[in-house]
Amino acid sequence: MKHDTILILDFGSQFTQLIARRLRELSVYCEIQPFSAGADVLTRPEVRGVVLSGGPESVYAEGAPRCADDVFRLTVPTLGVCYGMQLMAKALGSDVRPADHREYGHAMIACQNGSLLFKGVGPELRVWASHGDRIETLPEGFHLTASSDAAPVEAFENTAHRQYGVQFHPEVAHTEHGTEILRNFAYEICGVQGDWNMSSYVDEAVERIRDRVGEANVVCGLSGGVDSSVAAMLVHRAVGDQLTCIFVDNGVLRKDEARQVMERFSQKLSLKVIAVDASARFLDKLEGVEDPERKRKIIGNEFIAVFAEQAERIPNAHFLAQGTLYPDVIESVSVKGPSHVIKSHHNVGGLPEELNFELIEPLRELFKDEVRELGKELGLDDELLHRQPFPGPGLAIRVLGAVTREALELLREADHILVTEIKAAGLYRKLWQSFGVLLPIRTVGVMGDARTYENVLAIRAVTSRDGMTADWARLPPELLERISNRIIGEVRGINRVVVDISSKPPSTIEWE
Ligand code: XMP
Repeated sequence: MKHDTILILDFGSQFTQLIARRLRELSVYCEIQPFSAGADVLTRPEVRGVVLSGGPESVYAEGAPRCADDVFRLTVPTLGVCYGMQLMAKALGSDVRPADHREYGHAMIACQNGSLLFKGVGPELRVWASHGDRIETLPEGFHLTASSDAAPVEAFENTAHRQYGVQFHPEVAHTEHGTEILRNFAYEICGVQGDWNMSSYVDEAVERIRDRVGEANVVCGLSGGVDSSVAAMLVHRAVGDQLTCIFVDNGVLRKDEARQVMERFSQKLSLKVIAVDASARFLDKLEGVEDPERKRKIIGNEFIAVFAEQAERIPNAHFLAQGTLYPDVIESVSVKGPSHVIKSHHNVGGLPEELNFELIEPLRELFKDEVRELGKELGLDDELLHRQPFPGPGLAIRVLGAVTREALELLREADHILVTEIKAAGLYRKLWQSFGVLLPIRTVGVMGDARTYENVLAIRAVTSRDGMTADWARLPPELLERISNRIIGEVRGINRVVVDISSKPPSTIEWE
């Protein structure tokens, strides 16, 4: 079934995904497409409207992204946001110029002329804007719908051609009634039905998966994280025991993790799960290895080898289910920063094409919040759905330097105490990540009458929206005290606890 769709052409704004998420929250199905999308995409029958996103460039900059002129001749409504509006204005004959002052931050706008876009909001709105160009004159056939002291044209429209533009960002939380503005565009102007919700998504996805899989078997690498768990649950709902999950214990998991995964999926949820204890293999390969990137490669390669061996034993296994999410598949034009590899993250757990499976990626259209909602719909518990991210190479990159079984054991115990206390303080979900890092140094302490010479544990806790930037969390001193006392008192081999107070950038979240 095709849903009423709004396309978002991405001109590289850091907020493009936010536009999509806001629309999805309004039960509107939308897709992000590169700004260069052609008529084949723009005129698909289910498309009800097009949003032109913001972008970091000036419309006059050399190489500034431009969409096809077709976009300005569409019969469905279009909404230009910030850069998107300036592009629309310029393409339709306005005078767009660099402004004397860059408009950045809050602005008060006055809405005029009863625009459908501003139905139920205004007449005065506090909005959030970020642009250096300003539109001096209206294109022919357009009239002004909002202005501010800083910019004479904050919003305009041509109702006959159903073209709309706003200089500010309705998608950011700092814009008052921003969601209403997007709702007005989608429902009042584009006339969408709003037929996007997770329970109908389950039914449709189940049907699609069944059709594709037929009588064949499906394998899925279960990591215990949110994405692979929800993907597995969805495929299980579709094809039951034709799905076999493979869970690899790589020896660098957290305390009790392997047991919990089996309890949850195999016992409680009745999925067919093969648990492979490959820890000895991984740890032997990691012996003496200090370089973080080598650790990642070893773990990634070994995972593929173990997974392939297991999958080979499953007859008629044509399909591989993976928990790829929408942000991973969007062809982004965003400025991605330095192109050299800082850490080779996403290689771990990824499976090479040579394995010859056909891929089933039932979460490819979803954002993380939607995946959580879907997981709930499928019966997964909150504890799993709100788990903090855990890296593929696991504790191997949190035992700094060479990874030994003894060091892993220390870190497991200490990390368990840390996370337990963070949860007890009600902070677990407020933090992006909170974990322990075992440092490769020993320091002197005194316990009872005896001198000790033991390990140091660092507490790393950060807040973040997406892991790209992060701030160190200001944990309450009483909590830090409890964590420290418990770790030093209960974990033999650690006699000092320190706190990491670095932000990302310039530091990273993980220490290796
Ligand atoms: P950094 O340390 O680069 O981490 O600030 C950003 C986010 O990515 C996670 N991370 C990884 N995830 N494999 C993964 O699957 C990796 O090799 C890896 N390294 C870092 C990290 O936990 C944080 O959430």
